[in-house]
Amino acid sequence: MTPTVDARFALRKPEPGDYAQLTRWISDAHAAQRWAGPNTPWPLDGPGLALALHREQARPHALVDATGSLIAFGEYYFKPPAIVRFARLIVNPARRGQRIIDTLILRLAAEADRHGAANTLELAVFADNAQAVRAYKRLGFGVCKGILGDDIMTLQRAAFH
Ligand SMILES: CC(C)(COP(=O)(O)OP(=O)(O)OC[C@H]1O[C@@H](n2cnc3c(N)ncnc32)[C@H](O)[C@@H]1OP(=O)(O)O)[C@@H](O)C(=O)NCCC(=O)NCCS
Repeated sequence: MTPTVDARFALRKPEPGDYAQLTRWISDAHAAQRWAGPNTPWPLDGPGLALALHREQARPHALVDATGSLIAFGEYYFKPPAIVRFARLIVNPARRGQRIIDTLILRLAAEADRHGAANTLELAVFADNAQAVRAYKRLGFGVCKGILGDDIMTLQRAAFH
């Protein structure tokens, strides 16, 4: 199954104001760690979040609407030999439940495609993050490694092309 892209939304490089906005989407340390990983410090301001999220190999992107407002955020990186791994996926809390995750993942996958070859898409999620697991399974991701430390599952699916 190929998810649907919402043509109103575009991907661009994150700007400092995006990170400030992301801090307002995170309610507490638990939410920060579910989103960005178990070692994410909290609370943070925008510059602190940009620094905490920085990883050499990751390519962060903002999904914005026609007015430039931040709708969602996510990263991808290449995992040799042929995996694109998504990370730090998050949708504006006011826009959840509208399948914006489909557009985010498809756009990130298309962007990754422009920079390298991959046959597998991958992401990791806390097993009890029911909304995320529900979305990813609907998008065709299946569990490839069972629950590891910190109750994290790895999910994969074939590339969309
Ligand atoms: C996980 C997440 C990215 C999903 O994005 P989304 O665009 O809302 O995804 P969907 O529209 O497919 O909704 C997924 C599920 O969320 C639930 N949901 C529905 N409306 C919702 C709302 N208003 N608010 C929150 N969750 C809602 C539903 O169970 C929905 O599944 P269903 O439509 O099959 O019933 C988003 O919930 C999010 O940003 N969560 C916080 C950050 C996070 O946990 N990221 C994952 C890291 S791996």
